[in-house]
Amino acid sequence: MAFPPSFIDELVARNPIEDVVGQYVNLKRSGANMFGLCPFHGEKTASFSVAPDKGIYYCFGCHKGGGVINFLMEVEGLSYPDAVRALAKRCGMTVPEDEQYQSRYRQQERLWALMREAGRFFNEQLYAPAGKECLEYVQRRGLTKGSVTRFGIGFAPNSWNALVDAMRKKGYTDQELRDADLVGEKNGRVYDRFRNRLMFPIIDVRGNVIGFGGRVLDDSKPKYLNSNETLIFNKRKNLFGMNLAKKTKYPYIILVEGNIDVVALHQFGFDNAVASLGTSLTEEQVTLLARYTEQVILTYDSDEAGQRAAQRAIPMLEKAGLQVKVLKMEGAKDPDEFLQKFGAEKFKLLLEGSANRVEYQLNAIAAKYDLRLDDQKVRFLHECADLISTLGSPVQREIYAGRVAEAAKISVDAMKMEIGRAWKRRQAQQKKKQEAIDLAPARALQPKSRTIHYENVKSAMAEECIIAQILREPALLDKTKALLPDMFSCELLGKVYGQLRQRHEAGMDVSIAVLTDLNGEEISHITAITQRQKELVSEEALADCVQTILAEHQSSSVTSEEDLRALQRKLKERKGLGV
Ligand code: UTP
Ligand code: MN
Repeated sequence: MAFPPSFIDELVARNPIEDVVGQYVNLKRSGANMFGLCPFHGEKTASFSVAPDKGIYYCFGCHKGGGVINFLMEVEGLSYPDAVRALAKRCGMTVPEDEQYQSRYRQQERLWALMREAGRFFNEQLYAPAGKECLEYVQRRGLTKGSVTRFGIGFAPNSWNALVDAMRKKGYTDQELRDADLVGEKNGRVYDRFRNRLMFPIIDVRGNVIGFGGRVLDDSKPKYLNSNETLIFNKRKNLFGMNLAKKTKYPYIILVEGNIDVVALHQFGFDNAVASLGTSLTEEQVTLLARYTEQVILTYDSDEAGQRAAQRAIPMLEKAGLQVKVLKMEGAKDPDEFLQKFGAEKFKLLLEGSANRVEYQLNAIAAKYDLRLDDQKVRFLHECADLISTLGSPVQREIYAGRVAEAAKISVDAMKMEIGRAWKRRQAQQKKKQEAIDLAPARALQPKSRTIHYENVKSAMAEECIIAQILREPALLDKTKALLPDMFSCELLGKVYGQLRQRHEAGMDVSIAVLTDLNGEEISHITAITQRQKELVSEEALADCVQTILAEHQSSSVTSEEDLRALQRKLKERKGLGV
């Protein structure tokens, strides 16, 4: 649904972007703009900018950008209407609600309340007579009452209707129980989905219970039963324990595999541990981590699967600008076992000694080869040289060259030469790649985003220019009257043009901040365009752009008419043949 444009205008006006962003980012003024550390990707130097006069933000590092509504959507993970609601609340405006959205929001609120009640129920059951065995299990696993309370751990009784009955009594309908994925269904009757399991509530960073992970109390399979996706639960976007870890004083986050590991770590004082929710790490979870920390220490299980998962996670985390370290554990399969066996002090030593990712990866390479055999030694050196040659710092290269040389018992000079060769190899490769890009300018001009594609690059460049220009100077819209939104080759740019034009004609504000019905990627793309084209071009140049779009549009419609005629001819021929 669309909120009335006049409402959005007032909302945007009453929520200055610098104030809203300021709640998340420490902004410093520099001229007309303000700068700070980007909340969307980890960074040390401020490339995140806010332009109060234009009502937009833009990050020169990760190229995210948009208006105040879009900012809130991105930073809080909200939908468009929810971001609007949050801003309305912030400035004391009443939202003109559409029936459908109102009911959707109410439905969400009901599900949050239901999940919280269910969590409370499971927790009570742990201390009821039926929970005796589960409580013993909890104690056997060394979890304290404090931990149980902090995480809201509970017990799902071995019954087909304990939860269903309790929740019905609280006034929840069967449909709501289905929507929350708390029940199964047979012959039209719902029954408890979680039975005889130790229950871990999954809580989002805003403190809502959004799902459950239920572990068996013995060795039976499957070990965990997890909530499926619901209106309020998306496991790709959440991390177990993040609601607590986000408040930690530690400058890093410990990423582990298991729920129990998280609970044990917190219990032993490491209140910065989180786990991904039974899936391998996702991009969304990486983004979430980057919002709260600059460094992640991977502490995956010491088995092969755990190590493979770590290797996969490293580049993902680094891509988001996070510093990565990998903790190596010996004598225990996971952090929980390690803590119970050796205690917090020993674990602290592991954390301090945790290898940075280069050491870790060098070790991983070494583990693949038998250095007593010459041919394997050569391959080992090759691979290490490849890795070391990627390091930006000469000091780092020197140190690791020395280590590898020592391990392989060769001279440091020989190793350095090998690294030099690896470096040249990669330079040559990169040059080739760059040449390929230079030779294919059309491809280079494509949006960096994966979902936006320009069919007609020539027209799209002119369209980008028009959009950038009118966003700078809305009065230019009077000069582009001949241009209609559906003449744009790029649907997105046409849509934006249409909205801006409509607003301009209605005498309303024209800016990025008031665009509606665009997703985050689309808004970022539009913002990026305006950032690339800062200068106002001459009127002739603008007229050229209009001409280009018109001409490209015409030639494309001609082709399609021609195509149509050709098609008709073919059909006739076929008929003639009696097909
Ligand atoms: P683990 O097997 O390490 O579980 O799986 P755990 O919680 O550490 O329990 P312990 O140490 O064996 O007692 C790691 C995580 O993978 C997910 C769960 O989120 C679990 O916490 N998982 C595991 C599943 O979703 N399903 C499974 O069958 C197993
Ligand atoms: Mn485990």
